[in-house]
Amino acid sequence: MNKIKIAPWKPLLEKAIFTENASNINSATATIATVDSENKPRARVVVCRGFLGNSELKLNEENTLSSNLLAVSTHLSSPKVFQLSSNNVAELVFWFPKSSEEFRLNCKVSILPFESLSTNEAQNFDIKEFVFLKQEYEQFNKANTNIDEFSKETLLNSAFFAHSTGLHRWFSGPAPGSLLDSNAQDIAQLTDNELFEHSKKNFCLLILNPTTVDYVNLASRTHKRSIYSLDTSSNSWVQTNVVP
Ligand SMILES: Cc1cc2nc3c(=O)[nH]c(=O)nc-3n(C[C@H](O)[C@H](O)[C@H](O)COP(=O)(O)O)c2cc1C
Repeated sequence: MNKIKIAPWKPLLEKAIFTENASNINSATATIATVDSENKPRARVVVCRGFLGNSELKLNEENTLSSNLLAVSTHLSSPKVFQLSSNNVAELVFWFPKSSEEFRLNCKVSILPFESLSTNEAQNFDIKEFVFLKQEYEQFNKANTNIDEFSKETLLNSAFFAHSTGLHRWFSGPAPGSLLDSNAQDIAQLTDNELFEHSKKNFCLLILNPTTVDYVNLASRTHKRSIYSLDTSSNSWVQTNVVP
């Protein structure tokens, strides 16, 4: 595999997130669209939890290790996970009113539940392959990096425990979109440990690997639009400027 490099759209996205909300740059709201079994588009709002790096999710500059992969937390029984397990493509759309920028990230998606840590499936998707040393984008040499410190288990745990009790309850509960059942077990009665156990079973990260990014900037007098495409054979990004 060729050296992985920082994607040219990544600093633009980090800056737009910072400009939008400097006091909370560890999450950003986006819309993610998937395709259902009848080939219909399905879109919903999610919180983007950050770029993978240093075993944690960050949308800012703090990481030593970084990647171009983004993560979203969700319920393993939600329709979007079902859709992505049959068709693993999605488009993640960010709109930042303060900087007048739109980012449309066309992505390949991997579903990462805790359960995957104990199955062979986890070995097929090696996140370490996508991680690079942030200070040495161009000189990146895997042999010299401490990428072994990057663990999927730490990543899942840090994302899981970053959620509030309210969200742990949501993960503990039945499939989103299923009928309300007044006889369902009262989640409020669960002890903290039971709550963690239940919610971990239904918790998963969607790992988004962008392959094309359509960037629109409406801030300047002449609007700008660029398409960034990943050439997978050379692992390099090609930028094409197009009519907005
Ligand atoms: C501001 C906001 C943030 C949301 N963040 C998430 C999220 O991070 N993950 C998630 O699964 N659902 C999130 N939701 C709920 C989804 O929009 C959606 O209703 C739910 O996930 C079910 O989607 P699905 O039926 O398409 O799977 C959020 C909703 C709002 C309004």
